[in-house]
Amino acid sequence: MISLSKGPSMELPPGSVTGLLAACHANIRGRLAEARLLARATEWDERHHASARAIHDYFATAFPLHVQDEDERIGPELLEHHGVGKGPLLFELHDEHERAEELRVLLLADWARWRQEPGPVSRGHQHVLQRFARSTEVHLFREERVFFPLVDALPETTRIAIADAMVAARGGRRAAP
Ligand SMILES: [Fe+2]
Ligand SMILES: [Fe+2]
Repeated sequence: MISLSKGPSMELPPGSVTGLLAACHANIRGRLAEARLLARATEWDERHHASARAIHDYFATAFPLHVQDEDERIGPELLEHHGVGKGPLLFELHDEHERAEELRVLLLADWARWRQEPGPVSRGHQHVLQRFARSTEVHLFREERVFFPLVDALPETTRIAIADAMVAARGGRRAAP
């Protein structure tokens, strides 16, 4: 998890919701890359278990917070400010979240087991991970192209309120899932 209290993210101006979202996207891509590496493991040692724990913790707790940000904290504001014409786009992005959820649940069971027990990694896991990673990358890229500009166009007061809600949802920590 990238802490926004350190590094370049610290310089995000108040209300930089897309800055927070972009940090989340970087974390998602990083954990997916780690999950792909883990899925290729043939011999297991403590490093693999530590990796499984980090991946499991990320997708069990941080990833759902990011989805909630978009569906519950941002989506309604976009509808209100940009009008119902954006409804179909928001519905499609929400539907992509729902489909990712089915794959996430399947993967979580393996990552949870590998916190303690060694593999082997099944072909089924690799197949589901590949589908999850590919569909997530398409989704993130689409959001960055069509969702982020809508967020940036929200009034500043609205963006500040959303950013505050994102921080509050993480217990007040400026950490980016
Ligand atoms: Fe999303
Ligand atoms: Fe996203």
